[in-house]
Amino acid sequence: MGRPIRSAGERLRAKKRALVLGPAYREAAFFLGRWIRAPHRIAAVAPASRHLARAMAKEIDPGAEGVVVELGGGTGAITRALLATGLPPNRLIIVERDHEMCRVLRDRFPEVRVVRGDARELAALMRRNGVEKAVSVVSSLPLLSMTGQLRRAIVDEAFALLGSAGTMVQYTYGLRSPVQRDIHGLTGELRGRVWRNLPPATVWRYRRK
Ligand SMILES: C[S@@+](CC[C@H](N)C(=O)[O-])C[C@H]1O[C@@H](n2cnc3c(N)ncnc32)[C@H](O)[C@@H]1O
Repeated sequence: MGRPIRSAGERLRAKKRALVLGPAYREAAFFLGRWIRAPHRIAAVAPASRHLARAMAKEIDPGAEGVVVELGGGTGAITRALLATGLPPNRLIIVERDHEMCRVLRDRFPEVRVVRGDARELAALMRRNGVEKAVSVVSSLPLLSMTGQLRRAIVDEAFALLGSAGTMVQYTYGLRSPVQRDIHGLTGELRGRVWRNLPPATVWRYRRK
């Protein structure tokens, strides 16, 4: 049997699909490649879906004064959604440990400051960048795959940076809160479940008691 004959309309639609899906596929393949190299450091096989990214971004107030710090920017799925809220790019700072991810983020979001470093040294990294306080910390870090000690250190660093009213937003694939609220003196709320993500995730928001 020969190749099916496609109409001009079908060909155009296929072309459009390739254009739309192309970058998304490339992003997914790149992300998967980083995960294959260092599964425990990246901790997800795919970037956050746009549904999850939107659910995270909904938790910030783009008009509030101060900077928003994103932890674990990856390929920028959450970054894109944060900027789509109207948050000015110069009020967003991304902290990412993986150098290849940093390169992608700088390419994609040239107006956003991307700091390569480890979130366990967040306060020092921010001081070096002239930032003393943040209004929100939006984290995709794989907290539940970390040791308890590292997880506690990162949450302490995040709240050292946040003022008394500041919030930390975190997604997780786990069933329980990824932050132990009692040991940090925090309240935490489950803000949403996102089924349309691989795997489904929940969004939590924390603030000081
Ligand atoms: C699950 S991926 C999330 C990426 C992206 N935000 C998303 O939702 O698609 C976690 C990201 O956190 C980064 N990461 C892991 N541990 C980190 C740490 N201690 N400090 C900074 N970045 C870290 C990884 O390199 C990876 O890009």
